[in-house]
Amino acid sequence: MEHRQVFKEFADIIEERVEKRSKILVASHLDADGLASGSILFEACRRLGANVTLRIYPELDGRAVEELRGSRYEFFILADLGSSMIAELDGSLNDYILIDHHVIQEAHTQNPRVLNAWKLGLDGGRDACSSTLAYFLAKELDHRNVDLSPLAVVGSVADRQDCGPKHSLIELNRLALSDAMKAGHVSVVEDLLLPGRETRPLHESLSLLNNPYIPGLSGNKDAAYSALMKAEINLKVSGAWRTLSELTKEEKSKVVEIILSSIPPSQRFTVEQLIGEIYLIELEDSLSPLRDAREYATLLNACGRMGKQDIGVSVCLGNRDRYLAEAMKTLSEYRFNINRIMQSLVVETSRISIKDSVAILNGRELIPDKLLGPVTSIVVSSPDYRDKVVVALTNSGEKEVKVSARVGESFGSVLNLGAIMDEVARKFGGTGGGHSMAAGAKIPSEFSESFANQVAEKVLNESRAKIENKVQK
Ligand code: C5P
Repeated sequence: MEHRQVFKEFADIIEERVEKRSKILVASHLDADGLASGSILFEACRRLGANVTLRIYPELDGRAVEELRGSRYEFFILADLGSSMIAELDGSLNDYILIDHHVIQEAHTQNPRVLNAWKLGLDGGRDACSSTLAYFLAKELDHRNVDLSPLAVVGSVADRQDCGPKHSLIELNRLALSDAMKAGHVSVVEDLLLPGRETRPLHESLSLLNNPYIPGLSGNKDAAYSALMKAEINLKVSGAWRTLSELTKEEKSKVVEIILSSIPPSQRFTVEQLIGEIYLIELEDSLSPLRDAREYATLLNACGRMGKQDIGVSVCLGNRDRYLAEAMKTLSEYRFNINRIMQSLVVETSRISIKDSVAILNGRELIPDKLLGPVTSIVVSSPDYRDKVVVALTNSGEKEVKVSARVGESFGSVLNLGAIMDEVARKFGGTGGGHSMAAGAKIPSEFSESFANQVAEKVLNESRAKIENKVQK
C-alpha cells in the first residue's frame, strides 16, 4: 500500500474521534523525537478543535499502560513509544493508535492500530523517525500543517537519522525536509558539524564537540582555547568573539586538523565524518540555538531528560520568550551535568569492564537514569569505544535498573540491538526495545548482572554469526 494511503487511514481515524468529541490523550516519549512528535500530533488535533491533552512518558512499561487504562481519556494516540508493548496495549486500551519507528515484532506488523516505520517497509533506525511519521499524518489531516515540518527535521537529527552521505537525511525524513525547504521553513548549508556554528565563540563550539567525544578536549573550554591559539587561529576580531561560520576555509582546515590529531589513527576517522549538511530553521532568530536543527534537538533532549518536558513542548508549540530562556537555562544545566559525568568516567576507569567487543559501564550512584542514554551515546563516540557495543546500567528507583546500549560506528557488524534488549529484558521480567544501533531496557535490580552478561553474550554470538556468514559467502 502507498505510504500516503496509510497516513490517510490513520488521519481518518483521528478525524472521526475528533468529530465524536472523544477525550483524546497524546502520550509521547521524553526524548527530543518524542517531544517533537507528541507536539506535532497534539497541535494537529488542536487545530481540528479536538478535546486533546499531551502527556510525556519516560517509557511505556506495564505501570504506564495501567495508568492509561485507568485514566479518563477515550482515545489514545501513542507516539515514539509502545512498539514493544502492543500485546499489553491491545489487552488494556479500547481505542488507540500508535505512531512509532522502534523495532516491532513480526507478529504485530498487521495490527491495524499500529503505524510503524518498519511496517511501511522503512528502516525505523535510519529512514523515518516518529516526528516524520507524525508530520505526514498531520499533513493528511490538513495540508496547512506543513508549517510543522521543521519539527520532523529536528526529530530526525535528534535520533541521529542523519545517516546519508555528508550526514544527510534520507528516505521519508528527506521528504519531510523537502516539504520544509519548499515551504521556505528550512535551508541547508554544508559545514563542519560543531554546535553553535553561528552563535558561540569558536573555542566554545570546539569544546561542545561530543560526536566524537575527545577526552581532554570535549567539555574543556580551556583546552579548546589553547589548541586553537596554538594553531594560530584568531579567536577575536575587533574585540568580538568569532564563530565557526566566520572562519576562512584554511582556518576551518586547521580546526579539522586539531580534531583529527586528537583521535588515534587506528580509529580511521576521516574529515568527511566531521562535515555535513546543516539544517537551518528560517523562522528562528539567527542568534537562537533553535536556528540549527541539531541544537534545537539537543535543547529538547535537555528539557526531556532534566524533567522540563513541559518547557520543551512549549518551545515546539511556538512559545518563545520566557519558555526559550528557561529551555536554554536547562540546556546549560544538562551540559554541565553530562560534562561532570564524563569527567568522572575518564578518572573512574574501573566503571567500565571490557569483554571482547562489549564494554559494560556501571553508572550506579553517578548517572541519573534519565541521563544514561545521552551519556552512553557520548561514551560510544569516543575513540576508545567506537569499535565496541557499550551496555550501560544505572539505578532507577529502589528496585529497578535502567539500561542503555549503543553500537559504536566502527563496530564491525550489523546488530538488531532493539530486538536483543526486548528479548533478554522480557526473560528477566522487564521491558526493552529500540533500534539496531541504540536500545534500552528496564529490569528488576536483582537481575542486572545476569542481564548484562546475557546481552553481551547475544551481541557477541550475533556478530560472530554475521561475520562467519559473510566469510562463507
Ligand atoms: O533510554 P535510551 O536513550 O537508552 O533508549 C534508546 C532507545 O531505546 C530509544 O529509542 C528508546 O525509545 C528505546 N527504548 C525502548 N524501550 C525501553 C528503553 C528504551 O524501546 N524500555
